[in-house]
Amino acid sequence: MADETVSTMIDADRIAVRVRELGAQISRDYEGKRLVLVCVLKGSFVFTADLARAISVHHRVEFLGVRSYGDGTQSSGVVQITQDLMQPIQGEDVLIVEDIVDTGLTIAHLLDLFHTRNPASVKVCALLHKPARTRKVVPIDYLGFTIEDKFVVGYGLDWAERFRNLPFIGLVHQGGGEAT
Ligand code: IMP
Repeated sequence: MADETVSTMIDADRIAVRVRELGAQISRDYEGKRLVLVCVLKGSFVFTADLARAISVHHRVEFLGVRSYGDGTQSSGVVQITQDLMQPIQGEDVLIVEDIVDTGLTIAHLLDLFHTRNPASVKVCALLHKPARTRKVVPIDYLGFTIEDKFVVGYGLDWAERFRNLPFIGLVHQGGGEAT
């Protein structure tokens, strides 16, 4: 474990600029609407905190705990809700805030779930998208960055619960090689 290093893929300044742009776009689009940001835990907590502060229109924030079953870095698409929203979303404009859309299976599941609760609208804001790994095509209405098929950490994203605290998006290297 001691010889792990993390190299930078997207630095903190680039993230900050992009988050401000997304916040401005969302503020324009949701003017006069009943916006609810749904932070998908755990990976989206850093992104949501910054995005909320970049949004100038009134909104409330909800947290949704999900556990995606899979073998390590592979998602199975079976999503368990570990912590549900505190309040109903009926009649409100829901924006799901995700750290990364990888296979698309988690977002597809959440879209199906939320549509059963009769919101006025449901859209998706993702910081990262890995199109090479798509198994289910999902709409991403607001996207930070498209990245290649690499396992990334930092800015809320983890590798076995580590590296969430890094202020940038990076790649883990073990003993000179890249972690996959
Ligand atoms: P899905 O494959 O689109 O369902 O993504 C499920 C979840 O896997 C994401 O919300 C992330 O929490 C996690 N995930 C996918 N790719 C990565 C990665 O490169 N680094 C860290 N977590 C990831």
